[in-house]
Amino acid sequence: MGNMRAELSLAPIAGIETELLAVLAVDTQTEKSPDAKPKPTLLTADAAVQAAAAGVLATGEYKGGANETILLHAPAGIAAKRLLIVGLGKLAKATVHSVRDAAGTAVRYAKPRGIRDVVLALPSSESLRGAAVTRTVVEGAFVGDFDADTYRTDRKDQSIQTFTLAVADDAERAAVEAAFAEGVIVGESQNFARSLVNEPGNKLTPSILGQRAALMAQEVGLGWELHSTEKLHELKMGAFWSVSQGSAEPPALIVLRYEPEGVTDGPVLGLVGKGITFDTGGISIKPADNMEKMKYDMAGGAAMIGAMRAIALLKPKVRVIAIVLAAENMPSGTAQKPGDVQTAMSGKTIEIINTDAEGRLVLADGLTYARQLGATHLIDAATLTGAISVALGKITAGAFSNDDAAYSRFESALAISGEKFWRLPLGDAYADLIKSDIGDIKNTGGRWGGAIIAAEFLHVFAEDTPWIHLDIAGMAWVEEKRPFIAKGPSGVGVRSILEWVRSYQG
Ligand code: BES
Ligand code: MN
Ligand code: ZN
Repeated sequence: MGNMRAELSLAPIAGIETELLAVLAVDTQTEKSPDAKPKPTLLTADAAVQAAAAGVLATGEYKGGANETILLHAPAGIAAKRLLIVGLGKLAKATVHSVRDAAGTAVRYAKPRGIRDVVLALPSSESLRGAAVTRTVVEGAFVGDFDADTYRTDRKDQSIQTFTLAVADDAERAAVEAAFAEGVIVGESQNFARSLVNEPGNKLTPSILGQRAALMAQEVGLGWELHSTEKLHELKMGAFWSVSQGSAEPPALIVLRYEPEGVTDGPVLGLVGKGITFDTGGISIKPADNMEKMKYDMAGGAAMIGAMRAIALLKPKVRVIAIVLAAENMPSGTAQKPGDVQTAMSGKTIEIINTDAEGRLVLADGLTYARQLGATHLIDAATLTGAISVALGKITAGAFSNDDAAYSRFESALAISGEKFWRLPLGDAYADLIKSDIGDIKNTGGRWGGAIIAAEFLHVFAEDTPWIHLDIAGMAWVEEKRPFIAKGPSGVGVRSILEWVRSYQG
């Protein structure tokens, strides 16, 4: 993980000595006629900064578009060595989520230029100010600071050393300070998940993933348990074990527990994550093209581990158990074969049609185990299907639920997290497609509606416990860098799962 330090400053921004002062701008043009020119407007009340930027804004070369930047060296009348203007786009469309991205853009602008300290002026406008913006600025700065090149031997440590949020107006001091602290926890937790997802399969085996989770749990004061093959047999986790049986690497059953003091009743939230540290497909082996990407097949598990870190530090008053099913899906003489029949922990029998549909197998036993441990509400996250990307592209992740009340809490969580999920349907007609001739169900159901069929498979194990399934296969890896986020692991899910959990606090 990076080692960026984040600080709050109450000093007037024009006087802050820094390598780079970033201020945000919106386009306040509201006229829609084709010759209406953009009107970039700085979101700061500081007269000296306004004056320093006035010249360049008057040229029309800068439009204030979303994540559009322009840099001024040695700006007149202010102490900063550089002034960076970062756009939020049209005023009417600018939200706290645009500010998150803009903060990331400022950090990612500075990083490759050897700039090690960045000050960002908290925007002051009617709609964007105060605690909500503070949190997203800090999150965005941490997200922007992450890069995936950890194994480059010529890697300079390009982490920003100090990120300072400059707050001009002291009005909501306590709320801003709390939001700032929250932003640090959330941003660092998302990056922790990303750092796990970034590790290649040879560096992050199921056991090592378990150790990393346990170490984190010790640091933040979570309960934890780490189990392997023997426990899988003891619990009769036939579906989970069948995925691991072809690998020389033993599986890891990772359990993290958050039990806030004094909370002895109310819901118990069960977080279940797919932790396939490498997915070759098994005997139904995948083609070589892009197979290296399958190191990120544990991103759902990493999202749960990252969310648990944030939960432990933010201390909501609700009990949470996370279960991560970690295994390597390999072909070998001991691997499971198409046609094999496995008995899941729930007792249901599963006919294996395709050994590459392994995520649903490990999650099946994870959902059953979470219920056995007392979970009253379930949420799972998994890089489950290629089909979800066919449906939603690499722009929106998929969500499914058997319970409208649980899902509406998730929708409220999305408003805070800014992550994009879209609910897809479940239905008996889809469930019919996975009936097996030889046993209860089969693990694939034909070509059409693959993401929904996978969700219906999980539904068999969630039963009637309120449950949300997140298919993040299309969103866990950023395929092309953006101004505010590096190419590589995205950490998707951490923020939304955290906020869903917080929505249940008593
Ligand atoms: N891990 C994959 C899904 C995946 C695909 C994740 C692309 C990220 C990017 C999953 O285990 C898988 O192989 N799913 C199969 C299911 C099929 C065999 C029914 C798929 O989507 O092709
Ligand atoms: Mn697979
Ligand atoms: Zn997989």
